[in-house]
Amino acid sequence: MQAWSRNALRRGRSIGFVPTMGCLHDGHGSLVLRSVRENDLTAASIFVNPLQFGPREDFGRYPRPFRRDCQRLTGWGADVLFHPSPAEMVPEGLTTTISVNNLDKTLCGPLRPGHFQGVATIVAKLLNAVLPDRAYFGQKDYQQLKIIERLVKDLNLPVRVVPCPTVRESGGIALSSRNRYLTTAQKNKANQIFAALQWGEKLLKSSPYYASSALNTVKKLLKQISGSRLEYVELVDAESLEPVQALRTKCLLACAVRLGKARLIDNLLIEPR
Ligand code: PAF
Repeated sequence: MQAWSRNALRRGRSIGFVPTMGCLHDGHGSLVLRSVRENDLTAASIFVNPLQFGPREDFGRYPRPFRRDCQRLTGWGADVLFHPSPAEMVPEGLTTTISVNNLDKTLCGPLRPGHFQGVATIVAKLLNAVLPDRAYFGQKDYQQLKIIERLVKDLNLPVRVVPCPTVRESGGIALSSRNRYLTTAQKNKANQIFAALQWGEKLLKSSPYYASSALNTVKKLLKQISGSRLEYVELVDAESLEPVQALRTKCLLACAVRLGKARLIDNLLIEPR
């Protein structure tokens, strides 16, 4: 991979990179298409990263439709796919890992111990393998995006992180590889997640100093989704990810909901009026 990239860079070509775990959907498509627009060459990676799954999470059953993924990448115009084996990426005795501080203390961090360390470690390795000029990340995984922005800044990695908007189905559900775990009925219910966040946004904008009351309303709406279990709903500062009591700065309203076999996350960025 490095040889391919070095060769391209020597010829003055810019490289855009879209790291993924496969099971690609149009959200990934939006990242690849943007990279194709903004760079001479686009690399994608598919690697289901064992370091970012907890012991009771879905690593084993995470969908791996590899041939279909390759066809989709070709259709979107990617130039090269990096598809390393677990043995290459996580050789026995990986003694150096990247630890994440502060930004993993809220939202998904406490519920998924070690997850963001696993993400940061593998993303650093992927960036070192692909040597891109720009790397594209979706805002659906907003906490991941912020942690990677800090990783790049803190470790002086020579890459520009490009945040890209969440892509949704017409009903509102954010595209995710894990939507595959949902039945049609559950998918319809999952649309209520986005609707609840939008309602929260409306309340926060009209009464910015009553954040806890807006949060309670969103919590109530999310709990009403039958068959679901709410993990969290939080309002945090969009940069520090620390909880806030009022909408004074740009904030993130984010939640995680379990529905059937899926754990769904979603968020909205909210600016004060
Ligand atoms: O967002 C993902 O698909 C993964 O967390 C990533 C960034 C590819 C790292 O494994």
